[in-house]
Parts: sequence; C-alpha cells; structure tokens
Amino acid sequence: MMHIDIDWRVRMKGLDIVAMGAALPKKIVTNDDLSKIVDTSDEWIKSRTGICKRYMCEDETCTSLAIEAAKKAIEDGNIDINEIGIVIVATSTGEYSFPATACLVSKELGIGKDVMAFDISAACSGFLYGIKLCRNLLLDSKKKYALLIGSEHMTRLVDFEDRSTCVLFGDGAGAAVVELSDSMFLHNSWTDGDSETLICKGNGYENGKIYMDGPEVFKFAVKVIKQGIDTILEQASLSIDDIGYVVCHQANERIIDHISKKYKQSEGKFYKNIANYANTSAASIPIALEDMKRKGLLKRGIKIILVGFGAGFTWSSALITV
Ligand code: ACO
Repeated sequence: MMHIDIDWRVRMKGLDIVAMGAALPKKIVTNDDLSKIVDTSDEWIKSRTGICKRYMCEDETCTSLAIEAAKKAIEDGNIDINEIGIVIVATSTGEYSFPATACLVSKELGIGKDVMAFDISAACSGFLYGIKLCRNLLLDSKKKYALLIGSEHMTRLVDFEDRSTCVLFGDGAGAAVVELSDSMFLHNSWTDGDSETLICKGNGYENGKIYMDGPEVFKFAVKVIKQGIDTILEQASLSIDDIGYVVCHQANERIIDHISKKYKQSEGKFYKNIANYANTSAASIPIALEDMKRKGLLKRGIKIILVGFGAGFTWSSALITV
C-alpha cells in the first residue's frame, strides 16, 4: 500500500462525540411477518443476514425520526442549542426533494436561524461523510457544536415483491452532537460511480424501488471494509490491538464476520446490532454508536474505527476517539 504522510492531519483538530440519541418507528416487523408476504423464512433470513427483526414506519417519516433522535441527543448531552452551528442529515429517503430534512429539524428544535442546515446523499456512507463535513465546518464556525443525524425511511423504497431485498432493510434514525477536540482524527472516502449493482431509480415516494445484485454487493463490501480499516491503521501507525471497537455499516452480519476473522483475536471488537434493526442505511452507524453508549461500551479515550459503504459505490472510514 502507498505510504501516505498524514502527520499534518493528525496534528489538526479531531472530533469528539459528546451526545447521542436514536429513534425508531413503533411497528416491529419480524422475519415471520415477512414470510407471510413473500416466499421466505426466519431461518433463511437469519442464516444469510443475521437479521431477526426490523422497525417500519407507519405514521413516522424520515423527518419525524430525525427530530426525535436529535431531541434525545440534545437531552443526553444537556446541550445548549444556541451553541449548535451546523445541522446535517445524512439520508437517501428525505420526505421532500426540498426543503432539506436538516432545515425542518433545525426549526422544530428551535435551534435558531444563524445555522447552516443541509442534507447529504451518499447512501449508507452518509453518516461517515457527515463526520468529515462536521469536523471541517466546525474549524471555521463560531459555534461549538454540530448536530449530525442519519435518518432513513428505507422501507418506502423497498419492493415487497422482491424477497431478495425486502427482508434486508429497516427504518430508524441516530443522532450525534459533535465538537472539536485535540484527539486523533483520520478520515478517508472513496467512490467509483457504480450505477448497476445497487440503485434506486426514480425520485420520490411512488416510483423509486431498490434494485440490488446482493452477491456482487457482498464482494464489494468485504473488499472495501478491509481497505477502509487497513488504511486507517497504516495512517495512524496503529494495530488493531490499539483500537477499542470497529463499527461497520450494518448491512449483513456475514459481511462483518467475514472481515472480523481477518483480524485474529479481535472478532469481539466488531460491533454488531443488525439482528434488531436490519439495514438502516445512513442511520446504521449512529444507531450502533447509540446502542454502544447506552451499554456503557464507549469508555472515554478509546479509539473507534468507523466504516461505511453503499450505493454509488461510496465507501469511507474514520478514526475517532470518544
Ligand atoms: N428467502 C428465501 N430465499 C431467498 C431469499 C429470501 N428472502 N432471497 C433470495 N433467496 C434465494 C435466491 O432466490 C437464491 O435461490 P436459487 O439458488 O434457487 O436461485 C438463493 O436464495 C441464494 O440467493 P443469493 O442471492 O445467492 O443469496 P446470498 O447468500 O448471496 O444472500 C444477500 C443474499 C443476503 C442479499 C447477500 O448477497 C448480501 O447480504 N449481499 C450484500 C447486501 C448488502 O451489503 N447491502 C448493503 C448495501 S445496500 C445499502 O446499504 C443501501
């Protein structure tokens, strides 16, 4: 691998996650529920993906989930909303083409008008792209915090006649309040422009449905997750032993298991929660981080590698310290 001199970046400011929140729709859909709609079974879904259940919007939307997750994060950290200068929502399932979900969140929370609020679309890598944006925008902000949310209403893009995709996705949102710190921060992102393997054509509630060549996405995922982790380790001159947790986009438990086996004795560092939520796209990493925070796993000072990948193809990795 090419040697990259990143000393100047390591010396620059890092990013701390100071508060987390998550929101889920009320309705739970089990694998058995899905087996009443398409020709599938709990056994097939669990053994191929690790998924047991997912949450599905009925009266909730991408906006309402984002607002609820953000409120919980602000409560969690007792955050002064006047100190929030940036609101970003990573999503592919915003309620409107415009206004951006982030603007609606900002208004609902009463954050005030002197704020930059916008959405980003990078499929399942969105939250990771957002981390870098927040960090760089905060460097030039008069305010202390950025509010970064991943919120998805994926089930509205799912074709419930296609058993190979409809079992995979769920709805939900995760939110993080972040601030600049002196901790180590590294970030990488890539894209290759694929529009055949994983695509949702159309724009809006009626016409867009997900098409995915699952085995091809699987091959792509295992390749780029390893690239994302190894690039960070090399840039930081660290080994996997120095890392507290690796949090990958939760697309399939088998993908994460496949990767974790390559880092011997470190399988337990790869956090997994897809069993309970399925693939929530840009929300999967913040939902996982919120889970971990609630379980007391995010001990102060530990280093975490985050890896996102998804349609585009986009992929991204980051090192943060909590
Ligand atoms: N229930 C029962 N059988 C099924 C189902 C189902 N839900 N879906 C597919 N099958 C069948 C297929 O028809 C096929 O049958 P056949 O052999 O008679 O043709 C058989 O199961 C095997 O199908 P495969 O597609 O080869 O199954 P595979 O083991 O590859 O698992 C899966 C499919 C789970 C989709 C896997 O390929 C995968 O996880 N890929 C990666 C997906 C991913 O990471 N997506 C993330 C990006 S998406 C995003 O984040 C926006």
